[in-house]
Amino acid sequence: MTVASANDVSGTGSLLARLKVETRSQHARAEAALDLLSPGLTRARYARVLAWQRARHAPLEDGLNRVLRAALPDPDWAALDLEARAKTPRLDLDLRALNQPPLPTLPPPAWLSTEADAWGCAYVLEGATLGGQVVTRHLLGAGVSPDTLHFYRSYGPDVGPRWRTFGALLGARHASAPDPEAFATRAVRAATLTFELFTYSADAPEAP
Ligand code: HEM
Repeated sequence: MTVASANDVSGTGSLLARLKVETRSQHARAEAALDLLSPGLTRARYARVLAWQRARHAPLEDGLNRVLRAALPDPDWAALDLEARAKTPRLDLDLRALNQPPLPTLPPPAWLSTEADAWGCAYVLEGATLGGQVVTRHLLGAGVSPDTLHFYRSYGPDVGPRWRTFGALLGARHASAPDPEAFATRAVRAATLTFELFTYSADAPEAP
């Protein structure tokens, strides 16, 4: 499956479109490595994927909170509402339901330091909620219990509105950056590095 059909948010500047185009191959690699739609997915493998997702999300969410709280004016910070977007608590619910202990978390990556880095990284985590809807439908159809789908089901019917809010804020912050081209370059780099963190096979022995 490719992301060619992903929602485009019109009128919010071109950075969102650029992020999509410039990370398309990384998305394909991450999707293939995760291999979640495979008919051979077992409960144990699904639990390992989620434990690994948690080990990656927790430090990135800490970094995003720190960088964006410092960078954003209060109204933008409130509109973004990172607390409502947090995936780590959803992953904790799923891991508990699966009786899967969490893996140790890593410190936030050193490259996540500027506002542009944070938007690029957040793009990957937020965009994944779009694909999460497809994954959820598939896993429900494959008999995976809804108790273990809090992460992939993130935001439920609010996926579309939250994605549009995210795109509008990203576009506005990009447009008002002192050097929009440098901002875009940093954001694309951060998105690429974030995708690399999510390019993982749960069959690899050395997880995470
Ligand atoms: C089983 C694995 C995956 C599947 C089946 C999948 C599927 C999809 C699909 C169908 C879309 C388009 C949704 C739409 O247009 O409404 C999408 C978008 C997206 N996915 Fe995934 N995805 C997977 C894994 C991931 C991972 C691991 C990440 C990153 C952590 C990710 C990040 C994104 C992003 C950023 C977008 C938005 C692209 C854009 O429109 O700009 N996906 N995915």
